[in-house]
Amino acid sequence: MTESRTAIVTGAARGIGAATAQRLAADGHAVAVLDLDAAACAGTVEAITAAGGRAIAVGADVSDEASVAAAFETVVSELGAPTILVNNAGIIRDNLLFKMSTADWDAVMGVHLRGAFLMTKAAQKHMTEAGFGRIVNLSSTSALGNRGQANYSAAKAGIQGFTKTLAIELGRFGITANAIAPGFIQTDMTAATAERVGVPFDDFIAFSAKEIPVQRVGQPEDIAHTVSFLTSEGAGFVSGQVIYVAGGPKD
Ligand SMILES: NC(=O)c1ccc[n+]([C@@H]2O[C@H](COP(=O)([O-])OP(=O)(O)OC[C@H]3O[C@@H](n4cnc5c(N)ncnc54)[C@H](O)[C@@H]3O)[C@@H](O)[C@H]2O)c1
Repeated sequence: MTESRTAIVTGAARGIGAATAQRLAADGHAVAVLDLDAAACAGTVEAITAAGGRAIAVGADVSDEASVAAAFETVVSELGAPTILVNNAGIIRDNLLFKMSTADWDAVMGVHLRGAFLMTKAAQKHMTEAGFGRIVNLSSTSALGNRGQANYSAAKAGIQGFTKTLAIELGRFGITANAIAPGFIQTDMTAATAERVGVPFDDFIAFSAKEIPVQRVGQPEDIAHTVSFLTSEGAGFVSGQVIYVAGGPKD
């Protein structure tokens, strides 16, 4: 039996975050659907409540300390202390290194690394008090290096080191921390990449699928399924891992 807990999923207005929020709600948890604009979370919240689950929309910028503090106040008062955290919010600001602006470097570090740090620091207080916690951070196959993504690949590699350190420091409190490194997942983020390189999204998907051992691109639900496992009661001995969910081996 799954115990009902309070979960926060960042970047949950759409894409992988939205599918993950819906999956965790279906698993029986109350879910804070967090994204930059609370109004943009309405679709995810409605899908959860229509399916009989419990969710609230929370507008917050994960890279802003005051915004994160306010978000936690809302979650604690409306849903209870969060003991599941999925750091999923992300942005891309791709460019070849010689053209990459300092602002684009900082923006990517801000959302992925600073954001994960601020959210996790706020969450660990509730998790240590509860003697239970599940942290899942979104890395990427780009952590292994990807042309045009010096900022993003550095951030996603950083997420892996961050995750392993969380596992070491927080394990004694009943808290696990793991990272998921997705390959190509069909979302607005990969649609934006297709647009940047000037290829219709359908062609981009078909071309990418040929290169993937299972011969298809990933869907947000593929990642949500892995989050569901890592946040489950039974996964308490799985910690500090990076799971590549990419339709084939990537590491
Ligand atoms: N799509 C892929 O192929 C893929 C592959 C590997 C890793 N990832 C990672 O998975 C995660 C989700 O990706 P996606 O494809 O669903 O992206 P997406 O662009 O569809 O959704 C990302 C969400 O994060 C939100 N967000 C951005 N900055 C934020 C901030 N400062 N505070 C709060 N919310 C913020 C956006 O508003 C958006 O709703 C990201 O971390 C991404 O880097 C995606």
